[in-house]
Parts: sequence; C-alpha cells; structure tokens
Amino acid sequence: MDYAGVDGRRTDGTAAGDDEAVVEPPAAFSDRAVANDPELYEAFAEEGPEAWRRAADLLDWETDYETVLDDDDPPFYEWFPDGRLNAAANCVDRHLDERRNQLAIRWFGKRGERRSYTYLDLHREVNALAAGLRELGVEEDDVVTLYLPMIPELPIAMLACARIGAPHNVVFAGLSAEALATRIDAADSSYLVTCDGYYRREDAFNQKSKADNARLRADIDLSATVVVDRLGDALDVPLSDDEHEYESIVEAHDGETVEPVARDATDLLFVMYTSGTTGRPKGVEHATGGYLSHVAWTTRNVLDVRPDDTYWCAADIGWITGHSYGVYGPLSVGTTSVLYEGSPDYPDRDRVWDLIERNAVSVFYTSPTAIRSFMKWGAEYPDAHDLSSIRLLGTVGESITPKAWRWYREHVGGGEAPIVDTWWQTETGAISLATLPGITPMKPGKVGPPLPGIDARVVDEDGEPVDPGEPGYLTIGAPWPGMLRGLREGDERYRREYWLEGEDGWRYRTGDGATVDEDGYVSILGRVDDVINVRTHRFNTAELESAIVGADGVTEAAVVGDDDGKIVAYVTTRGDVDPDEPLRDAIGEGLARAVGDVARPDRVVFTPDLPKTRSGKIMRRLLEDIARGDEFGDVSALRNPEVVGEIESAVREE
Ligand code: WT7
Repeated sequence: MDYAGVDGRRTDGTAAGDDEAVVEPPAAFSDRAVANDPELYEAFAEEGPEAWRRAADLLDWETDYETVLDDDDPPFYEWFPDGRLNAAANCVDRHLDERRNQLAIRWFGKRGERRSYTYLDLHREVNALAAGLRELGVEEDDVVTLYLPMIPELPIAMLACARIGAPHNVVFAGLSAEALATRIDAADSSYLVTCDGYYRREDAFNQKSKADNARLRADIDLSATVVVDRLGDALDVPLSDDEHEYESIVEAHDGETVEPVARDATDLLFVMYTSGTTGRPKGVEHATGGYLSHVAWTTRNVLDVRPDDTYWCAADIGWITGHSYGVYGPLSVGTTSVLYEGSPDYPDRDRVWDLIERNAVSVFYTSPTAIRSFMKWGAEYPDAHDLSSIRLLGTVGESITPKAWRWYREHVGGGEAPIVDTWWQTETGAISLATLPGITPMKPGKVGPPLPGIDARVVDEDGEPVDPGEPGYLTIGAPWPGMLRGLREGDERYRREYWLEGEDGWRYRTGDGATVDEDGYVSILGRVDDVINVRTHRFNTAELESAIVGADGVTEAAVVGDDDGKIVAYVTTRGDVDPDEPLRDAIGEGLARAVGDVARPDRVVFTPDLPKTRSGKIMRRLLEDIARGDEFGDVSALRNPEVVGEIESAVREE
C-alpha cells in the first residue's frame, strides 16, 4: 500500500484521552435509550452490509429497495441502488399524519426575533418555494446554490430543492464573493438563492453585494436569483429583472402542492465543497438514499433523538454538520429543532444556556471550540440557568480534552448526561465513530470505537493495523451508507484522493492520524495532510497561504491552527518592506477577499524566515507546536535551525 503524501504529523503518540477513566452509561439513560441492545455490534458484524437495512427502513421509500449494496466496481459503491425515494417527503410530508401541528423549527434571530414552523407550516412553504423554483426554470438535476445565513429560509430552500430533485450546493454565508463564484462555477450551477443581508452584532451587513460581486466573477451566467428579505428596511437592496423576491414567490405559490420527485437512491442530493489536500476545494457529492439512511439512523441511535425531543445542533448549516444534524437528521426523525442565528455571547455570555432553558432542550450538539469558549467565560453562566432538560450532549469537529469533557458534563449535563464524542467528516456524511450512549462506556477525551458496521482501522504505512497506543492512519475498510458517492471533479480524483487498494480490499483514507487502545477506542491525533481545522471549519493551508502571499511585500507564509482553534499566520516579508500594522491589515483583507471573513488570521507573526527541511518543505508541525506553546523535538536536521529561536521570540512578543 502506498501512503505517500501523508507525512504523519504529530506522531509522538500523545493521545487526547490521557487518562484511563471509563464512564459507564447512566442506567436511567440506558433504560430509555433508542439503542440499548449490546447485541447490535454483533448483529452488524455478522450481517455485513445487510445490517444497514435497519437504517434504510427508518425511511419511507417510493419504490422499495431490494439490493442493499452494489460493490461490483470498487471504490464506486452504490447503496440501495434499486430503491427510489424523496428526501423532502421523508423530512416533511410523512410527518403530517402524526404530527402536523408539532413544531419542526424554532428559530431565534440575531435581534431577538422568533419564528416557529410546525411540520404543516414547513410543508406549505417548502411546496410554495418548490413551485416557484420550478417556474423559474429549475429542473430535476439542476444544481441550485444557496448562500444564506442561519435563517429558516435556508433549510426550507434545501428541502424545496430536494422536493423537485434539484441538488443543492450550500455555500457558507461567511465565505467571500470569490469563494462563492468558484463554487458556482465548479458546481455548474445556474440558480442562486441568497438574501439582502444579515446582522452582525448591531450592524446590517450586505450579503447581496457579495453575491453580486460573485455573479460578475463567475463564468456561469445565472439564470435566476432569489433574494430573501432578511433585513426589511434596514438595507435597501434593489433587484434587477432576473432577481426575484423570495417572499413574493412564496406568496404567489402559497397553497400549491408539488409532487415530490422520486429519486434513485444513488441520485445526487447535494454537493458540499470542502478543503482538500490540494489547492482548490473539492465538491463532495452525497447520494440521496444512503446518506439519508445513515443520517437518520445516527440521529436516533447516537444522538438518541426522538420526535418528542427538543434538539439543538449549534453548527452552521453552511457546513456538513448543519446539513446532516441540523436539517436532514432531525427532520427525518420528526423532532423539534432549535435554529439559532446569533452568536453564543450576544447579548450576553449566557445566551446558549438561556436558549436551552427557554426551549427545554434535551439534546445539545456542539464543538470543542465552543466548549472551550464556554469554559473561558466561566461556569457561572451555565450554572445560573436551569439546564435539567438536558439528557444527552454531543461534540464534533476536533478532539475534546478530558478536562473540557468533564466541564461540559458537569456544568451543562448536570453531571449525569452521557456525552457522545462523534468523529466523522464531510465525506463520511454521517457519524462514523462514537459510543452508542445507552450501551458503550465512555472514555473522556477518546472518540470511542467505530459504530456498528463501520470497519475503521488504524494502520501503518503498509496498511497493517498498528499496536495499541501506536500512532497510525485512520482508515475505513468496508463501505458505509453515508459515504460520498464521488467528487464533482470526477472519478479519477475521487479514487486518488481517498482510496488505497491493498491485499484485503479497498480502504478509505480519512486523512487523520490516530491511536487505538486495548479496548478498541480511537483517539484522534489530528490531520496528517495539509488541512487545518479551525473554528470548526476546514481549510487547506495552501489556499490560505496563497492568499497571504498575494499581499504586496509578502514573500512566504505558513498557516497553522493553535489550541484555541485560532488561525496563526507566520509571514516573511521582502527586505525593503516594514512588517507593520497596515501590512497585517492587508493580509487580513486578502484572506477575507479570497476565502471569507472566517479565514482572517487571529495572529500574524512576522518572522525573518520559515523553518524548512533540507528539501525545502516548510515544517508546519513545528510552527504549530510553537503556536500552541508545546514542547518540540530536535530541530538540528532543519536547513535553517537558527530561525526557530527567532520565531519563538516573535510569537512571545505578539
Ligand atoms: C475533520 C473533518 C463532520 C464534522 C465536522 C467537521 C476532525 C471531526 C472529530 C472528533 C477529533 C474530529 C477530523 C476530521 N474531526 N470530528 N470527534 N474528534 N477530530 O467536518 O470539515 O469535514 O472535518 O474534523 O480531523 O477529519 P470536516
């Protein structure tokens, strides 16, 4: 097997779960848990792919599937290939009989606004918009780009697209015009749904002008643009002839019904761009049947969500977590979700706890980055609220330290609630490694064993399983239903990017380094490729670095993430250029333009040189250790070991 390109960083074997504490699932939780039969692991092991019928059978199929998995042409796998279904019908229509008046979405806006949608409301608006999109010319298989903040119109537009069989391409609202244009072109998408703007703290921010700008840059001529009026009178955004008000469309088609288009299970549900190991973002394609099955199954069995819960996934819908567990998961299982547009510390640092109390949230899913902020702000904020409604907590996106894990359980989970540390990726579509909260004991700081049916293994360079405690590469053997069906960039790229063929068949490369302990619990060590996870977003280092080098006077740059999920940029400048504030600003602007405000570095460290290997490769791992204030090993093998001391003092001066 060839693992070229994975340079095995942070291979010192330090695992996030640094102690051996084992926390049993509380009996009171297990008794009521969706998954509480330990035989589940064995059943999946024995049945193979057939076991995933349990997931697919959570859905309503327009045409029943007979075949579970077609694996004739690996690594191109087809799940439930002869079945047909519609994702929007599964998320909305099928709930009408039993719970049409139950709340589907409780939305809280940045200005303290509230809006609630029952399943019946959702059905009405999704149908109206679906009819409107059709009238604008959207046909089955046309890709519709959605560029919206966390407002109800975003999930509604996703469902309206799904209803008519038009794959969506959601672009995170904080990304730049340039990033939007790239994604419109790459997805070959001629329809756009966006909004006039949104609030950032007190200020009205013009989103439409970013969309306009993207339109000018994109090669594709958009056939139609739909614009949601988020700001009312706060912002005057004139529309041209081929731009349509969302509200007028929904009003004009109010009360119409659009028959959900039956899609092949293997048909595209959506595309989501994410950073990969090389420059341009990759368009990850998710198929309808496998994705929705896996998402629904994990929403129930891992997050333990049921219709009578009030559930809150705090992730932005602009990324995969929000797709799977903010929209498709909760709606497919028919629960009530909180959708929150604002920030966790506005108007005060207790906003999240206030919302949990106000809505009696029972299942809360967030990221270690957020938990670290909560810890920093202080336990007095959660402690001042009644959080007794919480039954289960989840985390995703990066490793959580045992300390943060305990804080989360103590101050948010009342010392009682199980925590599921869920590992997955944009490409895996749904949770792949995690404990089953009613069955599997937890180890704070360790993700846990793979889910039943997920053949995850930590292997060495030769593809051989590593010994317990030894660092290796996290790979997945057998296919799983939520897996990407391919890349927008084509089959060859898909195969090259993710798959290795070995003696025991094909293995999917996750790009993560990991260790596994004696009990089969996996600890994630971080990415082994040139991808950094910061602020729960995934960036390709080269993408950020090329934007920095675009600033006048900059010669080289290296970007790393620090312990707080912040972006640290190390920058060298031309001899005649002063590394001063204006240059710092220009670097920030360059990144905001190329990628978006989310990519503005938290720290820019000017240094005379970057540490390099003899072959000239920048030692990002060393720079990361310096940014985090971690110990690092011998640097004498570097081409320029003398810069390390200078960089350390530059970091300290910052
Ligand atoms: C990368 C995927 C779908 C999750 C949101 C991010 C890291 C994810 C964990 C976890 C340690 C984690 C991995 C993975 N990651 N979950 N529980 N513990 N690391 O999705 O942007 O596709 O990033 O996030 O490095 O490869 P993404």
